Order: sequence, then structure tokens, then C-alpha cells
Amino acid sequence: MTAEWLECIACHAQFASTEVRYTCDCGALLSLERPAGFAAKLATRTFDARLASRDDVDRSGVWRFREAVLDVPTSAIVSHPEGATRLYRRPSLSAYAGVEPLAFKHEGENPTGSFKDRGMTVAVTQAVRLGERAVACASTGNTSSSLAAYAAQAGTRAIVFVPAGKISLGKLAQTLAYGALCLNVRGDFDAAMRLVNKACAKLDIYLLNSINPFRIEGQKTIVWELLQDRGWRAPDWIALPAGNLGNTSAFGKALREALEGGWIDRVPRIAAIQASGANPFSRGFAEDFRTRHRMKAETIASAIRIGDPVSWDKARAAIAETHGVVGEVTDAELLEAKRAIDEAGIGCEPASACSLAGVRKLRAAGTIRPSDDVVCVLTGHVLKDPDVVLHAPGIDRSSQTIEIDPTVAAVEAALANRL
Ligand code: F0G
Repeated sequence: MTAEWLECIACHAQFASTEVRYTCDCGALLSLERPAGFAAKLATRTFDARLASRDDVDRSGVWRFREAVLDVPTSAIVSHPEGATRLYRRPSLSAYAGVEPLAFKHEGENPTGSFKDRGMTVAVTQAVRLGERAVACASTGNTSSSLAAYAAQAGTRAIVFVPAGKISLGKLAQTLAYGALCLNVRGDFDAAMRLVNKACAKLDIYLLNSINPFRIEGQKTIVWELLQDRGWRAPDWIALPAGNLGNTSAFGKALREALEGGWIDRVPRIAAIQASGANPFSRGFAEDFRTRHRMKAETIASAIRIGDPVSWDKARAAIAETHGVVGEVTDAELLEAKRAIDEAGIGCEPASACSLAGVRKLRAAGTIRPSDDVVCVLTGHVLKDPDVVLHAPGIDRSSQTIEIDPTVAAVEAALANRL
């Protein structure tokens, strides 16, 4: 087992991993760190051998990599189990993006339907280890669903702060179903985020947003598992949607550690894609990150309707270290890409489709080449936001849903010219 500590990403001050804190005294974010060379002591064949195991901890796509995730006894782990998601390839989507080979890692296949479960299993395990009685987050709906599910499993009180009337019905229902207390904040996600920060500090509640470094440790495994799925052969690009920037940060750390460990021999470039109505990070990238932008966010992709992302500095480092890019796509572009993914029989929620829409645009701009090897991460399940499937602008399902009398003649009439 390796020793672990929390370390400031700016001034490198160190704190015990059992201390409850999310930022350094200097104000910068904290990262969970281990002794130099730790990753090189871990062999990918150990991770590969666990694929054949019947043990839940080995089968979890997070805890399969446990030596590089969190140093706790396996008996202390709160796991559903999560991860072990699939990679999809579809000729129609390669043609749509203009890129081949192209694959999709579908994180919507996690237990609560989004990638958040990978971070939550680690952060809730840490909450239990610290003896926390209540956990909280601000959320656009996926983090809250995941927190609620894992808190229910751990027997911890779950309190979620969501922008009132601004999260999808599926996510709200799911969060309530698992038993969380839902505070509908009159304001946007950024207001809910500021509020939960202050409330947790004052009321001694453990904060489970991705500002919590233990969330990032779990989300690293999206990248490790996709590398493992590919026999530890790095792609040229990994594309993902970007909102609060926790996942972009986690991908950067995962790639740094995989390279240090010799698990891969080169680093893929990260393409972080925002919605153009919620694009502070993309604006920052366009001007070499001279300014930390903050904005009032608006997009149909409610999951990433975020104007003041908390993990900015970590994500900026991830883009720099991987020679990555930050792109943006309009609502029309992400909806069109979502439709292509849905009609390929895969399906995803609107924010997830930013990855494909972004790759198509980067290909058209010549940043991505036609023969580049690309993996898009789909972050959430199609059922997370049924309203967009049925009622988004430009969507007309009337020719697809026909009410009929219960007669064969009515079926025949409905199927005329359609068989
Ligand atoms: N995709 C989906 C489906 C999400 O739910 C989120 C974030 C992202 C992408 C962006 O990831 O924030 O790490 O950059 N959802 C958060 C939530 C904000 O509350 O569920 P990020």
C-alpha cells in the first residue's frame, strides 16, 4: 500500500489525507498525491488479471485500479460496483465525424446513468472513513443522483443543492427516489455551488463536488479503463464534454500517472468541448488562459450549464500537459450529434454529445486528421433527459408516434409505405 497526502497545486503545501479540506490556505485547489514513482511499481497485468475475477471490488471499473485510487482496506469500500462500461464503434458515426477509427466510451452505463459514480464511490468511501454524518453537493442533476445513491448505500444523510426548475425531470426524480433532501436554490448552478460551499463550511457537512480531490481520483479510471479496453494502446485524442471541469482535470491526472507508470508510451491529446452558451473555459483557451472568465450560462445541455467552473486551474494544466484543445459547439450542433448517436442505437444525454459534435468540428478545422485514432466519452444515459428527446427545438416526433384503434386495418393504414 502507498502513502497518500493532499497537496496544494500552487504552493505545494501538504496536508494529511484524513483532514477535511478542499482548498489550501493560499486558496488553490488540492490534489491527492503519492510518492514519486508509485505508478511505475504497479503493473498493468495486475489490473488485467482482475478482469477475470468474481470479486465485486476487482470487477469495479474504479477499484480494479485501487492502488492508484485510494489507500483503504477493501472492506471499507462503498461500491455499487461501478465502471466496466463499454466501448462502441459505429461506421455511421465515423462517417458523421469524418474520423476513423472512432470509438465511444459510454459512461452512461454506470449504475446511476452517468460517469459521476466513478468519483462518488471514492468520495463516499472517504466520507465514511472520516465518520461524516451528512454529505452535500451542488448539481445540475447527475452528481446529485449519484451522491444520493451512494449515500443511501452508506447510510449517510444526502443533501443536494440544485438550481430550482433548471434540472431535467429524470435527474430530479432519480435524486429524490434514492432519498436525498433536495434544496431547490432560486438561482443558477453557479449560485448553488457558492451556497453549498458556504453552507458545508458553516454546518460541518462533507462537500462532494469535484472540488473534493477524492472525486477526481475515481474519475481518473474512465481514462485508465478505456486504455485497458484498448490493450493499453493510447489513442491520438480523447474528447469529452466540459462544464465544472472536474472530469477534464481527472483525465489530465490519469494520463500523467499512466505515462509516469509506463502503462502507456505516449499521451493522447485531450479535446474538452463546451456548449457555446456556457463557454468560459473555451474563451480562456482562445486567449492562452490570460483571463479566468466567468459568465451567465445558457444552453439546452443543462448538465453543463455552468458559467464559473471550480476546477479551472487543474483543467488548464490538463490541457497544457496533453497539448490539448478546448472547443465549443452550438446547441444546434450538439443536438444534431446527439441525434446521430441516438439513431446509431447508442443514445446519450445532450451534454454528452458535445464530444462527437466537437470532434466533427475539430476535424473540419483540420485540428484532428481523418486517420487520427479518437475516443469520445459519452458522459450520461439517454434517459436522463427525455424532454429533450421529445421536445427540443427542431424535433418533431409526430411521424414516429401514431395513436391507433386496436385493429389490424389500423396497423395496416399506419404502416402504409413504411415497410
Ligand atoms: N456531462 C454530463 C452528463 C454531466 O452531468 C456533467 C457535469 C458534465 C458532462 C461535465 O463534467 O463538470 O466534470 O466538467 N455535471 C455536474 C452535475 C455539474 O452536477 O451533475 P465536469
